[in-house]
Amino acid sequence: MSQKRWSAVDAYFSDTIIGRDSVLEAALAANDAAGLPQIDVSPPQGKLLHLIARMGGARKALEIGALGGYSTIWIARALPPDGLLVTLEADEKHAAVARANVARAGLADRVDLRVGAALDTLPKIEAEGLGPFDFVFIDADKSNNANYLSWALRLSRPGTVIIVDNVVRDGRIADAASRDTDVVGTRRMFEMMAREPRLEATAIQTVGAKGWDGFALAIVE
Ligand SMILES: C[S@@+](CC[C@H](N)C(=O)[O-])C[C@H]1O[C@@H](n2cnc3c(N)ncnc32)[C@H](O)[C@@H]1O
Repeated sequence: MSQKRWSAVDAYFSDTIIGRDSVLEAALAANDAAGLPQIDVSPPQGKLLHLIARMGGARKALEIGALGGYSTIWIARALPPDGLLVTLEADEKHAAVARANVARAGLADRVDLRVGAALDTLPKIEAEGLGPFDFVFIDADKSNNANYLSWALRLSRPGTVIIVDNVVRDGRIADAASRDTDVVGTRRMFEMMAREPRLEATAIQTVGAKGWDGFALAIVE
């Protein structure tokens, strides 16, 4: 198997069951034009987030790591018109692109984009009483994944779905001796998932246009 074939299969799925989407394509084009890194979720992954949020009837969602708002748009589209997606982004340039992409997608009314380091913003969100959230997507600096899981739990209710992206990292997650801070942070997150009695969790490896990686998926009990 090769990256070329993984990408070809993703392209096939995008062409068949996902379909072309001028708004999402415009968002990716705007990200490229602004020089943002191409580290957004792929179309099939974005649709997966969208479907999971819809399956759970999510009305309030939290995203940690917006980049240019590609996953933001997928998640926000799963919410009802009076729903709310609070998305957190540390980089002002990324946030500006995301804001424009979300507005172009007609979703500005249900997306609350907060600029700043998520660990500074999350206490404010709690203080404002914006939780509990029905759906949480964690996709920012991976070294803080355990901290973000802890905050996701604080801002959750029984039934909240929590998804963490990039938990496989080309297989490096299985290396207990790794000094890669992203691996170390993600392993700490898994250890927390394993010992936290309020969470039922699994993790799934994926291949596709974004290489070999995966998601952790948990529900709050
Ligand atoms: C993988 S990208 C997010 C991709 C996006 N979820 C998507 O799929 O379209 C990670 C983002 O997290 C942001 N980030 C990094 N550290 C952060 C922090 N401490 N707080 C909030 N955002 C952060 C980065 O600037 C980057 O835009």
